[in-house]
Amino acid sequence: MDRFIEVDGVSLKNYVLDYNVICCKLRNSRVKSKQLGIMEFLMSMYDLDVLFIKNGPLGDIKGLVSFFIKKQNWDKAVSRLSYIGYFDEFYELDFDITTPINKTNLKTINPLVWKGLKFSLKNLYIQSQELYETQSPHNRPFKIVSQDGNEKEIIGYRGDGSELGRRALPVEDARCLVNLSMPFQEKKVIEPFAGGGGIVYMYKYINPNIDITSIDIDSTLKPGLEYYGSKHIVGDASEVHLTDSYDAIVTEVPFSQNATEKIVKAMKNIYPNLNDKGIIVLMCGEKQSEQIIKYFANELNSNMIFSKKLNRKGTDVVVQIWTKNFELQKELNQTVEVVSRTF
Ligand SMILES: C[S@@+](CC[C@H](N)C(=O)[O-])C[C@H]1O[C@@H](n2cnc3c(N)ncnc32)[C@H](O)[C@@H]1O
Repeated sequence: MDRFIEVDGVSLKNYVLDYNVICCKLRNSRVKSKQLGIMEFLMSMYDLDVLFIKNGPLGDIKGLVSFFIKKQNWDKAVSRLSYIGYFDEFYELDFDITTPINKTNLKTINPLVWKGLKFSLKNLYIQSQELYETQSPHNRPFKIVSQDGNEKEIIGYRGDGSELGRRALPVEDARCLVNLSMPFQEKKVIEPFAGGGGIVYMYKYINPNIDITSIDIDSTLKPGLEYYGSKHIVGDASEVHLTDSYDAIVTEVPFSQNATEKIVKAMKNIYPNLNDKGIIVLMCGEKQSEQIIKYFANELNSNMIFSKKLNRKGTDVVVQIWTKNFELQKELNQTVEVVSRTF
């Protein structure tokens, strides 16, 4: 099933009988990452019959994207809005009106009419800045093994600053990577380069029922990752012996080019433990991306769903989504093509 739609005046009238329209606004820090935002939303709501509207309303508002959400799934979808990383404000179109009114702070020069249908614009949900701050790597508590060998709780652990030890994945990216893996479809996932636990922490926030295993070569991180709720393995991800199978591998790899060979070996090691429908979501450095893509496509015979570059405060990174499930790739193919042409 395609996950996008282009409406005209006639089809819109039919769609609004069964679907509500949500307008989602990109957070300022990710206003240039519309395509990733759309993919994040679609994947996180995969089970709820959500469609990206290619020619949505209010096109003059920067960073605004619209989706249809099946009416019967509306409450469930709304309950997931606090988990979204790239969008942080959500609005609703109300077609059941006589006089259109903009009841939000959004500024539009267009009349509130879309394909001939009048609508009012209502606030639906604005994410809490306070929660964002609490979840930020600068503020959340973590536990490490200190130099004297004792466990120590610290606030704002951001790694040891070394080339391989930088660890501060922003909240929006951690949520986005987790959401791209379809966290409401999975039971058991693995994070092979877990670092300060941004991804582990966010899994436990988004879907606490997920069983998460983490790996990191640095033994000092073990208490922190266990504290965040993962079954942690201290070791080299390219060598650890795994016996369980996983629904997803989700990770932010070390960005150093010196690490690329190890990353590829780690994926080779873990890939057999990914189940047949499994998904891989990874963020890597831009310079590593091509080598990783070649390896996944040629050596692992994996199916790429999506790949997109992102500038993270001056660092160019790439988010890649892969799957063992050819059917899923085929199903999302057209949608990804449309999203990739959305600016
Ligand atoms: C970019 S950091 C991950 C940051 C993490 N996503 C976060 O939010 O804090 C990469 C981590 O990979 C670990 N690492 C490097 N080489 C490794 C290997 N061969 N096996 C397992 N972990 C490794 C480093 O110790 C580091 O903690």
